[in-house]
Amino acid sequence: LVDEAEVEVFSVPSYACQRRTTLDNHNTVLTDALSLLAENAELEDEEGRGVAFRRAAAVLKALPKPVTSMTQLKGLPCLGEHSLRVIKDILDNGTSSEAEATKQSERYKALKVLTGIFGVGAKTAARWIRDGIHTLQQLRDSEHTLNRAQQAGLEHYEDVNQQVTKAEADAIGEIVEKAVLSVLPGAQVTLTGGFRRGKLTGHDVDFLITHPVEGREEGLMPKVVSWLESQGFLLYQKTTRNSYLESKEGPARPASNMDRFERCFSIFKLTKDDKHGTKQPEKLSENGIKAPEDTGRSLTHVQTDPNPPTPSCTMAQIHSSKDREHRSWRAVRVDLVVSPISQFAFALLGWTGSKLFERELRRWAGYEKAMSLSSHALYDNNQGRYLRATSEEEIFAHLATVKVASVQKPL
Ligand code: CTP
Ligand code: MN
Ligand code: MN
Ligand code: MN
Repeated sequence: LVDEAEVEVFSVPSYACQRRTTLDNHNTVLTDALSLLAENAELEDEEGRGVAFRRAAAVLKALPKPVTSMTQLKGLPCLGEHSLRVIKDILDNGTSSEAEATKQSERYKALKVLTGIFGVGAKTAARWIRDGIHTLQQLRDSEHTLNRAQQAGLEHYEDVNQQVTKAEADAIGEIVEKAVLSVLPGAQVTLTGGFRRGKLTGHDVDFLITHPVEGREEGLMPKVVSWLESQGFLLYQKTTRNSYLESKEGPARPASNMDRFERCFSIFKLTKDDKHGTKQPEKLSENGIKAPEDTGRSLTHVQTDPNPPTPSCTMAQIHSSKDREHRSWRAVRVDLVVSPISQFAFALLGWTGSKLFERELRRWAGYEKAMSLSSHALYDNNQGRYLRATSEEEIFAHLATVKVASVQKPL
């Protein structure tokens, strides 16, 4: 018997991929604190701790009502000792002292600023902090050598850290489609990542490219990149070729979480007019003045230069926000991935995210279904064979079939 004063005890499935994702979060104070601690753990290069906080935040996000007492959390999955301590602190005191202290800490702030530079990860940021560098200015003034990605990241810092809108993503989509169709008619471009999940803004724009005829997609990326460079659309790009066939680990068991598709991590130059998807970009110099020498050719030259410019050159080109307001363009991070059509559904599923969903789906497939899922394939460990699929629905149908003696409910 439940009287009205008694609190509701919540129940959610164990894996994030088994839950409906809601935009209606009733526990933002709790999830904000846990997400901040997750972010801090990731910035400290402590992946396991980061995942634990992410899982805890995801469980609380799935609850139908605000949490008011610890007893409601009995039996909920993924809430470890540390996360429970944080939750209790907030229920008792209104805020998490640990999250607040982290937010205020010089180290957290410095890690966040430095990893905000495209091309700078937790390890590099930690090394710089050890050398006394906490700010962009200190980095610019230092003798540290930056690689090509980091130079571009520092140069376009403000833009790259500004959210990308759906309108901007669509404008870039039109440019990418034009580039792809110009070099390979019949190819298909699909928006993936957060925008495919319906997010209204993102930190970048992700695209998956394929061709309905297997093999026709081979060698596509360098051609797409050349086309984009010739039109002045790329401020930075790094293309990595497909290494799937050479991999010795077997497709569904990559040594890392990274897939092996041909990919291009880039920074696009999106002119304001391109947001309407009509005009070609004007060739503009950094300060918004037409620069005759700033052509696709010179961009190509920079990108293929075996002796990249010294860091000090690039660092001198940092602009104030005032300059940026007067420009007719902005820099946007764009990820391009090419998949053969036979792996397209897996690539689409893998590149749509979220990162936690993908991680949980793979964990669930492994433990509950004895299947190995990657962005390339689905392998059934019991049958000892790969399962084909041409759509995400087919992948989920494979995963939902009960083959092991499992009490787990299907998705
Ligand atoms: N991804 C991947 N391999 C990478 C980078 C990303 O498989 N080297 C996948 C991630 O697992 C994720 C998707 O690509 O599922 C999108 O990643 P990302 O752009 O980082 O995140 P989004 O979910 O798009 O969110 P945001 O708006 O911040 O970009
Ligand atoms: Mn609700
Ligand atoms: Mn993205
Ligand atoms: Mn991305």
